[in-house]
Amino acid sequence: MKNNYLVIGGAGFIGSHLTDVCYANGKNVIVYDNFSLGKMEYLKQSPNVTVVKGDILDPKALADCIDKYQPEVVFHLAAIHFIPACENDPANALRINVEGTQNVLNATAGKTPKLIFTSTGAIYDPEITSALNENSNIRTGDIYGITKLTAEELVKYHVKKERGHAIIARLFNAVGPRETNPHLVPAIMDQLAEGNWNVELGNLYPKRDYIHARDIAEGLFAISQTELSTELEIFNIGSGTEYTVEELVSLCGEASGSPITIESVESRRRKYDRPNQLADISKMKSICNWSPQRNLRIALEEVWQTEMVEKIKR
Ligand SMILES: NC(=O)c1ccc[n+]([C@@H]2O[C@H](COP(=O)([O-])OP(=O)(O)OC[C@H]3O[C@@H](n4cnc5c(N)ncnc54)[C@H](O)[C@@H]3O)[C@@H](O)[C@H]2O)c1
Repeated sequence: MKNNYLVIGGAGFIGSHLTDVCYANGKNVIVYDNFSLGKMEYLKQSPNVTVVKGDILDPKALADCIDKYQPEVVFHLAAIHFIPACENDPANALRINVEGTQNVLNATAGKTPKLIFTSTGAIYDPEITSALNENSNIRTGDIYGITKLTAEELVKYHVKKERGHAIIARLFNAVGPRETNPHLVPAIMDQLAEGNWNVELGNLYPKRDYIHARDIAEGLFAISQTELSTELEIFNIGSGTEYTVEELVSLCGEASGSPITIESVESRRRKYDRPNQLADISKMKSICNWSPQRNLRIALEEVWQTEMVEKIKR
């Protein structure tokens, strides 16, 4: 139905920001989520936001949802995303990220005008140190990357078989309020909130492209609003700026108003960490007329103000 936008994984970190952006743009949003990590409290309570509790591993529930709401746009964000969780249980990661994506493709085939699948900038070749564009070489080094790359191939095959149009959005490192997985920023912020100003971390040198989750959400929405002449497109969504872990930590310290010291500890170090991962976002800028509006400092200040200050009070 016109104006119905379905966000699969819409109660999670990026999904809940995307739900907000769709809602703010006057869309009827349907959130499909199993709430394994997503939270109801992240979602606006409104007649224009409908929540369907369901699993992407349940093909019938997915098909019923698509048939009932007939969305003109489907965003697929549901996944196991935390790298250690994928490494600890590869079969589960494959089931959710690959089989789950195939279920989404089956449910939308011939029915959904536009499907937007969220992949990752982590599938680009780690040896490339310059900005990564959508044609850069692909080489995955872990289970998470393998599942996302396989899911991308399934999306491409879906388009090749003329089952629908699709867009693959390769996201870089999201930061901001409502993070569900114990990534770097929550790990640092939690230590600061506990009054531990000597922050223990793993490798300090890697540079990453950090982008506010709300900017990612606006980027995904911008894609949904762009008339594309091709049946399949790939877009990077990042900030186009990179920071070392050390720089990130010192910005966290500034956000919390405390001088901090950093210690790199053996137990937290990864054996191999790609040295950097920077997005070239010129395609998103030129085709979707989108660019990020918030820098890393703003994202970290928001996390501190909206989540950590509350935590300290409790
Ligand atoms: N956060 C990042 O930095 C980042 C970077 C690159 C790509 N991505 C991709 O973006 C997407 C969203 O990431 P996120 O950080 O918001 O993760 P998230 O874990 O917060 O969100 C995933 C959501 O999907 C739901 N979900 C998980 N398994 C499900 C299932 N079987 N059925 C139905 N719902 C299920 C969870 O409850 C959660 O609400 C993921 O596909 C992720 O791989 C994220």
